[in-house]
Amino acid sequence: MDELLNGGIPRGNIILVAGTPGAGKTTMAAKFIYEGLRRGEPGVYLSFLESKADFLKFMKLLGMDFEPYLRNGTFRFIEGLQSTTFEAARENLIEFLDTVARIGAKRVVIDSITAITQMTTLRGARELVKNALVLGLRPYEVTGLIVAELPIGYEIVGYGLEEFIFDGVIILKSEFSNGILRRTLQVRKMRGTVIPEIELHYDIVAGDGIRVYAPVRIEDSGKSKEVRTVTPLEPVDRVFRGLRRGSQVLLIVDKYVPSLAVGVLAGLAFVYSSGGKLLIRSFSKSPDIVRHVIDLISNAFPTSKRASAEIIIECLNPTQEPLYRLAHRARDNELKLRPDYLVIDPVSHLLKLSGSLHEFYRDHINNILMRRKLGITTFYSYADAEVRDLELPVELYDVTVRIRRKWGKAKRCYDVEAYGILKPVPPGPLTFCIDPEWRLFVEEE
Ligand SMILES: Nc1ncnc2c1ncn2[C@@H]1O[C@H](COP(=O)(O)OP(=O)(O)O)[C@@H](O)[C@H]1O
Ligand SMILES: [Mg+2]
Repeated sequence: MDELLNGGIPRGNIILVAGTPGAGKTTMAAKFIYEGLRRGEPGVYLSFLESKADFLKFMKLLGMDFEPYLRNGTFRFIEGLQSTTFEAARENLIEFLDTVARIGAKRVVIDSITAITQMTTLRGARELVKNALVLGLRPYEVTGLIVAELPIGYEIVGYGLEEFIFDGVIILKSEFSNGILRRTLQVRKMRGTVIPEIELHYDIVAGDGIRVYAPVRIEDSGKSKEVRTVTPLEPVDRVFRGLRRGSQVLLIVDKYVPSLAVGVLAGLAFVYSSGGKLLIRSFSKSPDIVRHVIDLISNAFPTSKRASAEIIIECLNPTQEPLYRLAHRARDNELKLRPDYLVIDPVSHLLKLSGSLHEFYRDHINNILMRRKLGITTFYSYADAEVRDLELPVELYDVTVRIRRKWGKAKRCYDVEAYGILKPVPPGPLTFCIDPEWRLFVEEE
C-alpha cells in the first residue's frame, strides 16, 4: 500500500476510511496505529464500537500486541462505547483531542463517525465532521484515519461532504459476487501523492492484520540467459532443447490426453536432468494420485538421474476462495519454496472458475511475471476441450506445446508441436508413442 501511494499516506492528512460491515476498517485503522507505535510515533484510538478489552483481544489474534505501548504511554485507547447521546460523544471527542495534545500523538483513529453522526441531524453531522474532526485535528499535525460505515451496495457514506472535506478517501468493500467473497480496496483521493489507478485486493490475515496485494513490477530477471540443454529423455529433449530458464510454457492437450501426466513428464525431464526442486500443483487431483503419476512416469527415466531431485506436491481446491487470493497464496508459496520447476494442472480450471476473463488475466499475468523474475520454469496445462469457446491467452506464454491423441494405431501415439518466441530450435511436428512399459519414443515418419 505504501509503495502504491509512493511512500505512504502524507503526514498530516486526515483520511476517510469507509467500508462495508466486516470489510476490515477496524483492522486497517489498528494496523495504521500499530505500525506508528513500532516506529516510535504515539497514537490515540477513539472507539465508539468496541471496548478496550475486546479491541486488545481481537488485535492480538491478528498479530498486533498493543499492551507494551499502553504500558509505556505511547498508546491510548479511548472508550466511547457507552456514549448513547450526542453530548456524551462530544465529551469523548474532547477527551480524545486532549489526549492527542498530551501525549504528542502522531497518528489517530476515530472508529467510527457513523456511531456519532447517527445521533444527530444531517446538518449536525456535517458540522461535526468538518469542524471537530478535520479542521479540529489540523492544529495537532497528526495523520488520522476516520472510519465510517458504508451500507452494502452504497457508494458514498452520505454526509455529502466526505469527497472534499477529507484529504483522502479509501473505500474498503467485502462483498459476495458469483457466490464468492471478494475484498476490494479503492483509493479515491489522497492529497499530496499519487493514487493507485486500479482497484486492489486485500486480505485479513492472522499475524499480519491487513495485507494489500500489489501488482508485480516487470524487471529483468537476470536469470533467463542460462540455457538448459539436454533432458535424459531424448523425445522430450527434442521438444524442449534450448529452453531458457524461467520460460513459461503452455501445454495444450486434447481431451484424450491426460494433462497431469504431460505436465509431470515435462517437469520430471528437467528436474531429473539438472537436479533441483520441482513443485507440482494440482487443482483437481489428490496427492496420492499425483504421487502415483510421478511414480509411473519416473520409470521412463534412468534411476541414476532421479536421486538429486526434490519433488513437492501441492493440491489445492480452487473453488473455496476468490481467484486473486488463490493466486497470491500460490505466489507466497513459490517465494518461500523457490522451486526451479513448476507444473500447474490444469490452468483451464482457473479460467473457467474466474468470474471474468479480465480477472483471470490480471492474476495470471502477475504470477507469470513473478515466475519469470524468479527464474521458475513453469509448465501450465490446458485441456483444450475446456477452453475452446474461451479466448486462450497463448501470447502470455513463451512457448506453446500442442499435444493431440493420434488415432488409428495399435500403440498409444500423440502428435506434438512446439512453437514460441523463446523456442530457438523448432522441432517440427513429432509423433510420440508410449509402449506398455511407459517408455516414450519418437516415431519417425
Ligand atoms: N484471525 C483472522 N483471520 C482472518 N480473518 C479475520 C481474523 N480475524 C477477523 N477476521 C475477519 O476480519 C473481519 C472483521 O474485520 P474488522 O476490521 O472488524 O471489520 P470492520 O471494522 O470493517 O467491520 C471479519 O470479516 C473477520 O472474519
Ligand atoms: Mg469495525
